[in-house]
Amino acid sequence: ATTSGAGGALLGFKSVAISTADTVTVPEGYTVQVIAPWGDPVGLSGENTAFKDDASNTAAHQETQFGMNHDGIHYFAQEGSKSGLIAMNHEYTDHGLLFADGTDNWNLEKVRKSQAAHGVSIFEVEEKGGKWAVVTPSPWARRITANTRTELSGPAVGHALLKTAADPAGRVVLGTINNCASGITPWGTYLTSEENFINYFSGGDSLSEHEKRWGLRKGGGGYNWHQHDARFDATKNPNEPNRFGWIVEIDPMNPSSTPMKRTAMGRAAHEGATVAVTKDKRAVVYMGEDSRFEYIYKFVSRDAIKEGGATANATLLDHGTLYVAKFNADGKGQWIALTHGQGPLTAANGFADQGEVLIKARQASDLLGATKMDRPEWIAVDKQGWVYTTLTNNSNRGADKQPGVDAANPRVNNTQGNIIRWKEDGDFSGTTFAWNHFIMAGDPSLERAEAKGSIKGDMFSCPDGLWVDGRGVLWIQCDMSTSAMGKGDLKNFGNNMMLAADVNTGEARRFLVGPAGCEITGATGTPDGKTMFVNIQHPGEPANETSDPKNPRAVSNWPEKKANGRPRSATVVIRKADGGIIGT
Ligand code: FEO
Ligand code: CA
Ligand code: CA
Ligand code: CA
Repeated sequence: ATTSGAGGALLGFKSVAISTADTVTVPEGYTVQVIAPWGDPVGLSGENTAFKDDASNTAAHQETQFGMNHDGIHYFAQEGSKSGLIAMNHEYTDHGLLFADGTDNWNLEKVRKSQAAHGVSIFEVEEKGGKWAVVTPSPWARRITANTRTELSGPAVGHALLKTAADPAGRVVLGTINNCASGITPWGTYLTSEENFINYFSGGDSLSEHEKRWGLRKGGGGYNWHQHDARFDATKNPNEPNRFGWIVEIDPMNPSSTPMKRTAMGRAAHEGATVAVTKDKRAVVYMGEDSRFEYIYKFVSRDAIKEGGATANATLLDHGTLYVAKFNADGKGQWIALTHGQGPLTAANGFADQGEVLIKARQASDLLGATKMDRPEWIAVDKQGWVYTTLTNNSNRGADKQPGVDAANPRVNNTQGNIIRWKEDGDFSGTTFAWNHFIMAGDPSLERAEAKGSIKGDMFSCPDGLWVDGRGVLWIQCDMSTSAMGKGDLKNFGNNMMLAADVNTGEARRFLVGPAGCEITGATGTPDGKTMFVNIQHPGEPANETSDPKNPRAVSNWPEKKANGRPRSATVVIRKADGGIIGT
């Protein structure tokens, strides 16, 4: 099911075929260059230790190097399309690859290296003769890790649920973790999200209702930081998990600035944060919570965006209203405010104040009757004002004791995912909207009706990353899980891929296929449209602590292709050989 050649005016390239090759495939006439792999120096001044092929770099080295598992990314132009800063997320660590001996001899040094491979990299890039390079050293280069000082701001600052022994004021948090998708603000800052933060914490034998609702487990989710860093032992520091799950604002142009956790936008397993602007210049931030049966949120700022960049708008995201989405069966929907004292959000129902509503946004959304979605991932807004969200998949939809289908999430055992979109009534601040399904992903050759999909053009599954480029093309990135890839409903899709969609015709055209075991996530570009940066995450998965740590490279050795080389997440730079605009 491929199309090629002629098509809508937006898409001018010949689509690439499905592939299982351990390489990045792009259309004829395009070039691929790799930059910024995990472990290369980001360009801090002083000593910069190179990546060691056997992963024997120390925690101190890792603090100066690109982290693991690149995700959200954005290019901030400095000299237009010739040089700029890139801010980039590092979502999680794979301990089988991060250490020469995997998880053997687990100790504090290993925990610190894992923590240092998390967070955000800010680095300078420049183009010379069509080739891009990371500038080292650079005065803007910065690593933000799981131990970097950040501050809380907004209505929940100082809340009793945010206070810890180390921070009795409830105001200063070390680090940001599980940074997944990203966004940018019109005033030049970067928004990073804290997605599956709960997996880093270990709970006790008995869990509170609050801990259960957020998925805390005894032993945590496999990172084992709690064994050597008590901050992640929730039996000793029960409020520490409440200090994660926020949208974090970072000013990339100011390397000494403090990353700010913006509590007014609520707490969730946030996939990302995408900003739109109302006619009266208020910021509207759309956020998905990627977890089965969780919610879609939007925040509307109280104040208008001011001239004067990051300094003038330093508290803009601290004041406003948070809403959660309800999709109705008639194609309409509502945004319901998470405002203390309104409806069920009262002290009698367990919400002492607005801070508690924000910290317990999931419980508040449950009471408000919001729609439980099929894992909302990235969000993008097109030139016509449609807001798109990927609902990546949800194999539990319709299962025993699980929610059944609804109009917005219409498939039982949703293995393929879909892209839903809505348009606000009036402006982005509107409290009602109209919605439809842009694309139901799937494979038309399958028997099962729920797995066939309704794709015009090239088939794909499990949409996740979204980006609207300067021409209005909707780029769709896929994240079929590597445990399901190549089997069952996913048997015909090959490796994860990226497609370009024409939002006017609905056509999707395959533009890139990634190396073995990877996910494609995060895209950005230069203002002239001639360079695109795309992240290749976890090539070679599975190669984790459950596999042989002495041979974690069985699936892939991308990008260097060295014999027995470790696979490394990296950024690929895509250009047209003739120097033209990407996608034309
Ligand atoms: Fe980190 Fe939902 O992907
Ligand atoms: Ca994702
Ligand atoms: Ca995903
Ligand atoms: Ca991922």
